[in-house]
Amino acid sequence: MKKLFSLFLCLFLCPCLSCAHTEDKPVTNVNENPYLILVNKQNKLPDDWLNRVDLISTRNIIDEENIVESHALIAFNGLRTCLLYEEEVQIELDSTYRSVEQQQEIWDYWGSTYGLEYCEKYLSPVGYSEHHTGLALDIFIITKDNVEIRDNDEMIADTTDFAKIHSHIADYGFILRYPEGKEDVTGYDYEPWHLRYIGNPEIAHYIMDNNFTLEEYLLQ
Ligand code: DAL
Ligand code: ZN
Repeated sequence: MKKLFSLFLCLFLCPCLSCAHTEDKPVTNVNENPYLILVNKQNKLPDDWLNRVDLISTRNIIDEENIVESHALIAFNGLRTCLLYEEEVQIELDSTYRSVEQQQEIWDYWGSTYGLEYCEKYLSPVGYSEHHTGLALDIFIITKDNVEIRDNDEMIADTTDFAKIHSHIADYGFILRYPEGKEDVTGYDYEPWHLRYIGNPEIAHYIMDNNFTLEEYLLQ
């Protein structure tokens, strides 16, 4: 009876039935939400991008500088606080905004250190990295014993902490940009540390809850 009453109340209060169906795809309009910009191996950063964003400087707990898009930074600070208090997991910013020159430097260093095959799995070609947008945030973990979990392999192995982290990111408008098992879609191997701000928790939840990628959300 209580259920019937709730259903009646919902239908009465929500003449637009779609609002009761949270599984429906939330509106996709990159013009209305510039945070949905797609930068990947096929889609280069637009030439005028830096005129469109507000990038600001911040420092992590070990005083390293990070440049981040301003709303993404506010959202990250909320996520960081939530994880500290609700999960006792401390996340910090690692690599955030990168100029094309910085991506080139990383590419040259990784190429000579790890080889081209490794670069192609984990590093975007210069001009095609969403780190150029200021919306991509690589994170690392600091344990209660003050040990940094920052090495790629160590982070991939830390499934417990990253499961906790990933369960909260959509609430703050972030998605996991390179999920496990979606290498063919994204073009990159699994990166548990690479969060992407898309500016809208509802869309972020739709993507995360359905195990989609940004490509699948935007192009399907
Ligand atoms: N690690 C990601 C793929 C980048 O370099 O943009
Ligand atoms: Zn990254």
